[in-house]
Amino acid sequence: MPMRHMYTIPPNDIDWTVPRDGESRFQWEYDEGRGRLLTLYQKGKDRQWDSVERIDWSLEVDPLNPIGLPDALVPIAGSPAWERLSDERRAMVKQHIQAWQLSQFLHGEQAALVCSARIVDTVPNLDAKFYAATQTMDEARHAETYARFLTEKVGMLYPITDPLSRLISDTLSDSRWDMPYLGMQVLIEGLALAAFGVYRDIAPQGSLAKQLLTYIMQDEARHVAFGRIALKDSYADMTSMELAEREDFVIEGCHLMRDRLRGPEIWEHLGMDVKECTEIVDASEMMRGYRSYLFSRIVPVVKDIGLWSPRVQDTFREMGVLSMADADAEAMSRDDERIAEELDGARRAEVETTIDAGK
Ligand SMILES: [Fe+2]
Ligand SMILES: [Fe+2]
Repeated sequence: MPMRHMYTIPPNDIDWTVPRDGESRFQWEYDEGRGRLLTLYQKGKDRQWDSVERIDWSLEVDPLNPIGLPDALVPIAGSPAWERLSDERRAMVKQHIQAWQLSQFLHGEQAALVCSARIVDTVPNLDAKFYAATQTMDEARHAETYARFLTEKVGMLYPITDPLSRLISDTLSDSRWDMPYLGMQVLIEGLALAAFGVYRDIAPQGSLAKQLLTYIMQDEARHVAFGRIALKDSYADMTSMELAEREDFVIEGCHLMRDRLRGPEIWEHLGMDVKECTEIVDASEMMRGYRSYLFSRIVPVVKDIGLWSPRVQDTFREMGVLSMADADAEAMSRDDERIAEELDGARRAEVETTIDAGK
């Protein structure tokens, strides 16, 4: 079936354009790179992988429950709206939640592809252009991987949500070179990374979803580090007025992302009571924990790059995520890389055992 027929709700248009202006920048000095960025660039080149080879696409996937979502992580589970559903309808709710979430991952990856290419174009420093070029290739591979998983294994897609498309268009239509970093590398990628982590950790050992999420997260660890290094350097030299503008962007962006987590289109599409389900989701203890966990990758980075005025702290406090400021973002990234290496090791050992058994 062609992909466009897999959309539960047909997108308004298959093409989407975001108008922009700004400048393409060049630098003629080729030997002035910052050590940390060039190291990251080298790592980006060394760690490229091909999903055709690295992921075992022959693994079977249950299209109704592609990631193995437990009932406990369905935001309406246990509520009257859930109790009223038959087993079949409950399975359908779980299928749609996963298709919706994976679709947002896919659309987000395409946006990351466009944003990192934009950084290559507009960032003033050559070391950052070099690094962003490797990230552009990473994001193309991620979009390719999610698209294949959704079309071959899930067979269902949701269009991009309004809050996510608004944040992407705010990020891309701004002509200042640091905005794609702030919007994409810090906010959208930070949130996505935490969400990937939740799904990676619940996906059963040996499943296709586990492989795909683990390997994608290995790359994302570099992307977050890139945003942090580049912005920390340049924000240290900004005036308080310029910093205040960046803070406004972060505050608005975090509100949009919190709203993105609601997913009213799922209830609407399934013919359920949207108001009732949204209220349940907003009041759900599980969702409160999930929401604050999702900000665990954003809040420490915002603090680290120096956008830490009382206004920003108040926003995070009001959202119930201020305590995430002390989370160790670097340690989380190191963990993501280690988990991917361990998965590779375990899969290699499995192949060797199979070969030995065949001898
Ligand atoms: Fe990505
Ligand atoms: Fe990324």
